[in-house]
Amino acid sequence: MIISRIIGFESALPPFTVTNDDLAKIVDTSDEWISSRTGIRTRHLTADQNTSDLCIIAAEKLLKKAGWAPESVDLIVLGSVSPDYTTPRTACLVQEALGCKNAFCFDLAAACSGFIYSLSVADKFIKAGGVKRALVLGGETLSKITDWSDRSTCVLFGDGAGGVLMEASEEGGILCEDIHSDGSKGMALTAGYRTNKSPYYKGEPKSSEFIDMNGREVFTFATRKVPESIKTVLEKSGTAMEDIRYIVLHQANTRINDVIARKLKAPAEKFFTNIDRIGNTSGASVPIALAEMNEKGLLKKGDKILISGFGGGLTWATMLIEL
Ligand code: UT7
Repeated sequence: MIISRIIGFESALPPFTVTNDDLAKIVDTSDEWISSRTGIRTRHLTADQNTSDLCIIAAEKLLKKAGWAPESVDLIVLGSVSPDYTTPRTACLVQEALGCKNAFCFDLAAACSGFIYSLSVADKFIKAGGVKRALVLGGETLSKITDWSDRSTCVLFGDGAGGVLMEASEEGGILCEDIHSDGSKGMALTAGYRTNKSPYYKGEPKSSEFIDMNGREVFTFATRKVPESIKTVLEKSGTAMEDIRYIVLHQANTRINDVIARKLKAPAEKFFTNIDRIGNTSGASVPIALAEMNEKGLLKKGDKILISGFGGGLTWATMLIEL
């Protein structure tokens, strides 16, 4: 049986960081409010890079460390809701920069679940037999779709990118997944609404570039659906919580992760978190966390880890991976 093995974890963060005190100079907020409600203390924000720039840095590191020739990559999938262009897509910009000329490339927009959705899609191409090697990325420059006068959202987000390489294998890799969407609650978290501007369009022209979120609704959704999803993956795969080395959740809010840990009755040490330094980087948060864990030597061959993303759509997705 073909299994998609995951090789290498890398990330790229803009060098410029902004503290909660810095934000208190531009909106009516405080370090106390932000850190106690979210766990966030600082975040990286791009001063001159776009989403593709960060993705290219992460992808270059991945290929270099694995010793993969760029031409050997068959597929690039990139989870993002903040691409450089509507077209060409960021995955194509990465392809061009790296010289992955044999890959077919596309972006996948599933907000904070985007990286895990992308892993799932790449996994299916690998299992179907047409793809042997895939580059899967999550990259965001949310700062360009953030309303910097809205204190309820601008304190939450950060910019960054991360990713992994995937290869057809006979052992390890993606063992089980649980993936969902609920469009009926989609208006709880929106960005980038646009109506038509053609001379033939009869409706009211309207656009809203920025992220708009009902934080409470998203909080309730995440703390209800993510534990369910994790339990489903454990049951479907016949895996006990004790066999899981780490759980890496989308880094949206420390309080969300604490509630999820309580509901799962899982010890806090199983949950990796870096939200204090990174903020919420949407589709990039899970691969950025994995890259940091790898850098710190926390990811060991044979370990089973759970990764879970949740957010806009609404979407949520959990995956069990054997390293
Ligand atoms: O990655 C996508 C998924 N997104 C999420 O997972 C986000 C989930 N939601 C959350 O993390 C939380 O709901 C937030 C951190 C976004 C907000 O926390 P909250 O405890 O739900 O606050 P709230 O929105 O209910 O607002 C409480 C109060 C309000 O003031 P009043 O109406 O009670 O006077 C807000 O205006 O806090 C006020 N407020 C702030 N005050 C200081 C909102 N933002 C700020 C701020 N600084 N930055």
